[in-house]
Parts: sequence; structure tokens; C-alpha cells
Amino acid sequence: MCGIVGYVGSKQAAPWLLEGLQTLEYRGYDSAGVSVVSPSGNLHGVKCAGRVAHLVERAKVANLNGTCGIGHTRWATHGAPTDRNAHPHYDCSGRIAVVHNGIIENYQVLKRQLMLDGHAFASDTDSEVIAHLIEEAWNGPAKGDLASAVRNACDRLEGSWALAVVCADVPGELVVTRCGSPLVVASTDDGAYAASDVMPLASVTSHVLQLEDFDIATLGSDGSISIIDRDGRTVDHPTAIDIDWDASAAKLGGYSDFMAKEISEQPEAIERLLAGRLGEHGIEMDELTLTRAELAAVDRVFIIACGTSYHVGLIAKTVIEKWARIPVSCEYASEFNYSDVLVTNHTMCVIITQSGETADTLTAARRMRGMGCNVFAITNVLGSTAAREADGALYIQAGPEVAVASTKAYTAQMVAAFLLALRLALAHERMSIEEVQRHYEDLCQVPGLMRQVLKRRWQDKQAARLFNGKTSALFLGRNVNSTSAYEGALKLKEISYLHAEAYPAGEMKHGPIALLEPGFPVVAIVPADHVHDKTVSNIQECLARGAVVVGVATDGDERVAKMCQAVLWVPPCPDELIVPVVAALHLQLLARYVARDRGYDVDKPRNLAKSVTVE
Ligand code: AGP
Ligand code: GLU
Repeated sequence: MCGIVGYVGSKQAAPWLLEGLQTLEYRGYDSAGVSVVSPSGNLHGVKCAGRVAHLVERAKVANLNGTCGIGHTRWATHGAPTDRNAHPHYDCSGRIAVVHNGIIENYQVLKRQLMLDGHAFASDTDSEVIAHLIEEAWNGPAKGDLASAVRNACDRLEGSWALAVVCADVPGELVVTRCGSPLVVASTDDGAYAASDVMPLASVTSHVLQLEDFDIATLGSDGSISIIDRDGRTVDHPTAIDIDWDASAAKLGGYSDFMAKEISEQPEAIERLLAGRLGEHGIEMDELTLTRAELAAVDRVFIIACGTSYHVGLIAKTVIEKWARIPVSCEYASEFNYSDVLVTNHTMCVIITQSGETADTLTAARRMRGMGCNVFAITNVLGSTAAREADGALYIQAGPEVAVASTKAYTAQMVAAFLLALRLALAHERMSIEEVQRHYEDLCQVPGLMRQVLKRRWQDKQAARLFNGKTSALFLGRNVNSTSAYEGALKLKEISYLHAEAYPAGEMKHGPIALLEPGFPVVAIVPADHVHDKTVSNIQECLARGAVVVGVATDGDERVAKMCQAVLWVPPCPDELIVPVVAALHLQLLARYVARDRGYDVDKPRNLAKSVTVE
């Protein structure tokens, strides 16, 4: 949540800050702001509720002149998304400006104390206390040393933060730090940069440094970066990341929206992921730090994730249990963190997280590591916290996923989970090398099958019209496709704001069927698989109550074609377990068309943000 940027150097700061905020806007977009140190040695800035585009207009008028500054795009946690709550926040003198990503859990106590000490507050946010705490330290123990003032202030904070701070009295300095929220920095010939993730930096460098929690970095206008830890000791070797995404990967490149672009990128993403994964001895997965003997000893797997990544976990559970015969629990991270957990000496934990920054998932992973479990991360973002903290990390290499609704990461993460299942199956001697090869070859058909679905997007466009004027929808599927139903419903509700329920089709009779009335839209995922006939019966039950049914069916299924008002056709898949990976594209396209028909911004749905870095 929230994107922060900072720059100090020889160039004008505002253009890159605003460009960076646009790239980071997927992280939060209810308000935005920038602050720049002017040549006359004052802070000047603009901030406003609404999108970054609105801020850009305001910034043009304000003509922000200066080579050192910070910026923020907000996803409000404390205080409504208004102009006054937008970041940056200032101290009483207006000479220190702060942008914050995270939550200050003890802000009420701090604010009360600061007010008693005479500080005046200008917002309802938790973040503003930080500016006043830095002010106290700056005028007190830190004696004009910005990094020390920030360190001093952070000592009093509880919660999570990534901060970028500028002070009008030190115009050539930008101080950044983090605890629990992501932050990267980069040094270039033009100066030094900071950002919440690598994406805005891709246009200026291919080499960034990852800060660790409590590192405090002072960035200088000559591009220098000096880092101290919480005890004030110099940190010599922060983790370096080479960005292999070029800047254009995070641009629309002719598409009308990122969701459309990312849906279309799925075949190539899967090809990249599968390339070189089959070796003489089965699936190559050096990212796993468990030896083959340790893998063979794994007696239980916990899969932990949130949202769409949790749905990947549900599929992974089915596949690992079927192929490797190991019991798997799949847990929502937010629930897992507050429940009892039983682990053995041979329990393995798999976390699935596109961003690698989801706070609940990170907390769960830390908890599992604390209990001695090997934690394996399936993630997309290079150098993300999940990847760095896990024992091993498999990058799905899907490239930047900008649209808030996850699409290409969903399918690529599923394929990564299939590879892991094959690796476990071989280690547990549940499959021969030949069988593993056969399954791998089946997976290699996925990109071709996806391309066929993409050519059929007109089917989704037509089916979307059936949702005109509707307020609710029901998604049904059985077995692995109950998960397709969950994911289809999540996509639809995220971007079209239509109330959507998903159930295993057989469960419908136990309650949700009461929702049905003439004209109620139902999406039934009913491919040619071992539960096909049962699902067909459930469709009949819906039709008997006047529902409008959109089927997701395998080519040539005349029975389903006759029953449904629209059919989203899926080409025959070599293994029924693969259907969710291919059918997902129809469900993504359907949701996108419904949302567009309603005139919504599919990339930035209301109330949501791409990475949920708060619990
Ligand atoms: C997906 O469309 C959602 N925006 C959301 O459910 C997301 O999958 C979830 O927040 C988990 O994110 P992660 O994969 O980055 O951990
Ligand atoms: N808590 C801060 C605010 O509400 C930052 C929010 C965030 O990082 O998500 O402004």
C-alpha cells in the first residue's frame, strides 16, 4: 500500500518524482503529493485527493523548482482520503517533510504527547507524528543531523514504515529508512533515487540496493548512499538487485489498460517459466534448499497465501496431494497467523505471493521459520521481502504485474506449483521420471491452449452483456474448478463491484440456491472431466429456477451448449488438472468486459491496492 519516491541529484526532482508516482500508482491511488526543496532553501509542494494525474496538473501550476524531493501515492489507513491527509506531512516549522508507507500503531499515544508538547497537527493520519518526532530530534539530540533525527524518531515508533524525509536546511540530502515496508535505493551519475519498488527505477538504472529493516540511508546529490543501522553502525553491503525488467515492461505499450496487457502476456510468461525446467533427473528446481533426502522426508506441507495467490494454493494442494501423496493444508495468511499450528520436524511451508510484500503472508512465513520449517516462496518480484526472507524462492518471471487484479501471476504461480508438485512426487517416489516428463510436456501445452482462448475473447465480450443491469452473480465449479469459481468471482467483484459468490457446485443446494430467481446470472465451469455430469445436473437446477447460465466448457460439448445462454469455450486440455490454468483467461476476460461495460477503471478498482503491506 502506498508508493513512495525520493530523489536528490543534479536534475530537477519533480519530473521523475511524478513519473515514479505514476508507475507506483497501482500501490494506492486515493491521494498523492510531492514536496521539493526550492533553490531558495524552502520546501514547496502540492498534495491532493485523487489520482496522480490530478497531482500532475496541480504540479504544473505550482512549477516545483528544485533538485531534491519526495513523493507519495496513498492508500489511506488512518484518515479519509482528503487533501489534508495526503502526504507529504510537515513538522511545525514546515521545514521537514515526510512520506510514509505503513501504519504507526502507537500514533495516538505519540500524538497526544506531541500535542501536549505544543506541536500542531494538520491531518488525521498516523503518519504525521513522524514529521513532528523528527522535528523534536532535529532540534534536540540529533542537533541538525537528519539521519540521526530520523533514527531517533524511529526508535519511538511501533508498527511498520518506509519513510523518505527531506529537510529544507539540508537541501542536498534525502534520508530514507524502513521497517516492515519495502524500500529500494539506487545510485546513478545524476544523483540518488529511492522508491517502494524497483519499477520506477527501471527507467534510470538496472542496479538497485535493497534496504534491510532499520537501515537508515542518507542519499546525497552526488549519487552517494551511506547507510547506518539502528545502532548507528555503518552498513557496508546492502543486498544488490539487478533489474532485468526494462522500463517498457511497466508501460501500456499500445494496450488500453494493464489488465488487458497482462492477460495477453500469459502464454509467454508460462513459456519463460517452463523453459529449462526439465532435466535428466526430473524437474530442475535449484531454488529449493532442501536436499532430495529432506524433500523425501517432508510429511506435511503448509501453503500460505492471500487472495488470488491463496486460490493458487488451493490448486497446489490438490495437485501435490494427488501427485506426491503428501497431506497439504492451504491457509489464508491472515487466519493462519492467529491460529494454532501443528508442525512436525519435516513440515515444509510454501508461501505464494506475487508481490512478495503482503504483510500477512510475510508474518506467516516468519512464524513458520521460527518453528524450524523450511519456507519456500513462489513469487514474482525480484528481491522482494518474501524472496529474501524465505529459505528458497522460485521467481515466476511473469514481469511486472501492474493491474490490481492479478492475472498473469495467478496462472504462472499455478504452473510453478505444478512443477513443485512434480519435484515432490519424484522425491517421494510416487512418479517415475517418464511420468514426470509426461506431465511436464502437458504443461508445455498450456501456452498454446491459452493462445487459443485469447483468440476467443469475443465470447467473453458477448457473455459480459448478460450481466447488464445485474447486481449479483454466482460462480460454480467442482473439484479443481471450484477454485476456478472462487477466482472468477473474485475477479468480477474486484473490478466490476458486482456482488459475486462462488461455491463448489454440489454445495449450492445447501444454501446459495436460495439466491436464484429468474434472470440471475450463474457462471458454471463445467469442462470435460470426471465430475462433468454432476456439474451439468447443477446447471439444470439453476435453469429450473430461471437463472441465466454462462458455461465454461470444453470444445464440442453440445449438451452444455444447448443448456447455456452463452458458452466460453476451452480447448481440450491434456490433463483435467490443467483446465483451471487455461479457463482462468476466460474468467479474467469476462470480468474485464463486465467492468468496462460499466465504465470502471479496471486497473485501479476502488478501495484496493496492489500490495497489501499492512495487516
Ligand atoms: C488479486 O486480484 C488481488 N488483488 C489480491 O487478492 C492479491 O492476490 C492478494 O492481495 C495477494 O497478493 P500477493 O500475491 O502479492 O501476496
Ligand atoms: N498510514 C498512512 C496513511 O493512512 C500510510 C498508509 C499506507 O502505507 O498504506 O496515510
